[in-house]
Amino acid sequence: MSSDDGDLEASRSDRVEIEPPEGFVSQANVSDEGIYDEFEENWPECWEAAADLLDWEEDYDQVLDDSNEPFYEWFTGGTLNASYNCLDRHVENGRGEEVAIQWVGEPTDEGNRGITYEELLAEVEAFAATLRDLGVEKGDVVTMHMPMIPELPVAMLACARIGAPHSVVFAGFSAEALATRMNSADSEYLVTCDGYYRRGDPLDHLEKANSGLASVEHEVSDVVVVDRLGEDGFGHDLADDQHDYASLVADHEGEAVDPASQDAEDMLFLMYTSGTTGEPKGIKHTTGGYLSWASWTSRAVLDIKPEDTYFCTADIGWITGHSYIVYGPLALGSTTVMYEGTPDFPERDRLWEIVAEYECNQFYTAPTAIRSFMKWGSKYPASHDLSSLRLLGTVGEPINPRPWKWYHEHIGGEECPIVDTWWQTETGGIMVTTLPGVKKTKPGSAGPGLPGVDVRVVDADGEEVEADEAGYLTVHNPWPGMLRTVYKNDERYIEEFWAEYSDPDADEWVYFPEDGAGIDAEGYLTVLGRVDDTMNVSGHRIGTAEVENAIVEVEGVAEAAVVGAEHETKGEAVHAYVTTEEGQEGTDDLRDAIVESVENGIGAFARPGGIVFTPDLPKTRSGKIMRRLLEDVANGDELGDTSTLRNPEIVEEIQSKASAG
Ligand code: PRX
Repeated sequence: MSSDDGDLEASRSDRVEIEPPEGFVSQANVSDEGIYDEFEENWPECWEAAADLLDWEEDYDQVLDDSNEPFYEWFTGGTLNASYNCLDRHVENGRGEEVAIQWVGEPTDEGNRGITYEELLAEVEAFAATLRDLGVEKGDVVTMHMPMIPELPVAMLACARIGAPHSVVFAGFSAEALATRMNSADSEYLVTCDGYYRRGDPLDHLEKANSGLASVEHEVSDVVVVDRLGEDGFGHDLADDQHDYASLVADHEGEAVDPASQDAEDMLFLMYTSGTTGEPKGIKHTTGGYLSWASWTSRAVLDIKPEDTYFCTADIGWITGHSYIVYGPLALGSTTVMYEGTPDFPERDRLWEIVAEYECNQFYTAPTAIRSFMKWGSKYPASHDLSSLRLLGTVGEPINPRPWKWYHEHIGGEECPIVDTWWQTETGGIMVTTLPGVKKTKPGSAGPGLPGVDVRVVDADGEEVEADEAGYLTVHNPWPGMLRTVYKNDERYIEEFWAEYSDPDADEWVYFPEDGAGIDAEGYLTVLGRVDDTMNVSGHRIGTAEVENAIVEVEGVAEAAVVGAEHETKGEAVHAYVTTEEGQEGTDDLRDAIVESVENGIGAFARPGGIVFTPDLPKTRSGKIMRRLLEDVANGDELGDTSTLRNPEIVEEIQSKASAG
């Protein structure tokens, strides 16, 4: 962990501490420091506070059922419905005319839509009736391959309404990635769209979805296609099993669909994420535990109140968008802003224009975006009135003190607390951060575990490290929002998350998120990044194995090793080291074919930034590729120990090829 120690050092030497602004504290949803002790003393019953944010049909009998560790169950015996909690109850409380989703399309010359709770409920019911009509039953997984258009949350909530788990596949994922996920989930239904706008141009999405459908191994019953582009569309004809979204919804307009009574432990959704092997993991989240976690953290950390307008720039195709664009903010009855496009279209002030226009109270984004804002310069935010903002958040990767301070000064006007929130697809919601109305912040450090969340930093033997030493982040008690398993693969669930530090004989179960971290004397964590073979590119988790698999499919390629190298704005960039088959040269054509294969296998967001052809890869005597050395090469760092290599001479050769460009 030598380079990681360096990061820890950097964050320590630059340590500033910022107390929560008084104006914020006086209005904060949580402002009593006593909550930490109270939750510790009253664990796990403390999590009734999260369940209490929801309306339950049947009360639960037990907060935590740990009789089958690590297959924990939360709020057992309780029944509820997620769409009821996100929609009906607000309408019943007389808030039906409040805006639920403020949708902002990328083109600036079309009407943006403020969709009220009443309207959203009506469309969700019409689409739920549609899904039922198509034959979707409780427990059937419905896949959505969709960009940031309102029909995506409608489809998610319609699924939730009838008890059909959704599996949203980020629109940037390729056809092949879509097919892999539909195959894994045995999903027979797909909701998608004709296209969307990117930097001013319409982009064909249906062609990709169709090509993915061609690789689905089982029969797909029905495909629903949203017409997003209208006249800008690509003139696709819909196949027999493909239906136009708007006509279906119109056919079912006004139909009431009672919210299905779901068990707390019923699956709400699946979300695929990358791991060490090439196969993505289907992370299973449940109705009661997940929804209460998304709601409690939205309230306590993001300080969301029903009257707030809240803006998170994530994509709903990733977990941040699930928890903190859709489920958390809607369960709390606030207005959630949903933006279709990129931050720099038509100008680099687009997000600030949105914040000013809709008077957003919270702004939640990723460090990769903040680094871009910083590079573009402060004149863009300075030209807008951002005084409505009360709180800023970051998520997805470590944030260094410099961009943190820039964010604090130029976006928050030094008046907004910043929450640096550490969590993962698997945790369902925020785990480590400062409660903004209680704790001081330290730029570069995410903060302590939330109340009731026992996080520690341990060494390879599981012993807690000294303050300011680097080690591994671990979680020592379960929490309601946790994943329940890897879909159809309980063994992998135990293997990936619990095997490393648990002692089943002593009944001690420790969750290992596969991140490195340091902890200071006050229990504040500095997260250092993944310690498994995954990369974090612009806040997106990408498996090195997935990229390598796509590269070795290219004819003429013999072997590939992929690493994440430091990148100024993306955090990490994908670098590939490739050996060719006998007689095949490392030509530009081959380079293009490699890029294309990665785009086809995963998506453009995983495209390698650098490809180096080499006669061999650095390998240990047992034949294992030493990625760490390739990381050193990619980062231009001094090489680590090469003495265990079978072919130490190759590393310098790769180094000189890499520097030659
Ligand atoms: O390495 C950590 C990093 O992102 C990983 C989780 O990725 P994913 O499941 O795609 O979810 C991203 C959004 C929650 C973590 O294992 N990560 C996330 N938040 C932070 C972070 N690293 C440092 N600081 C954070 N605040």
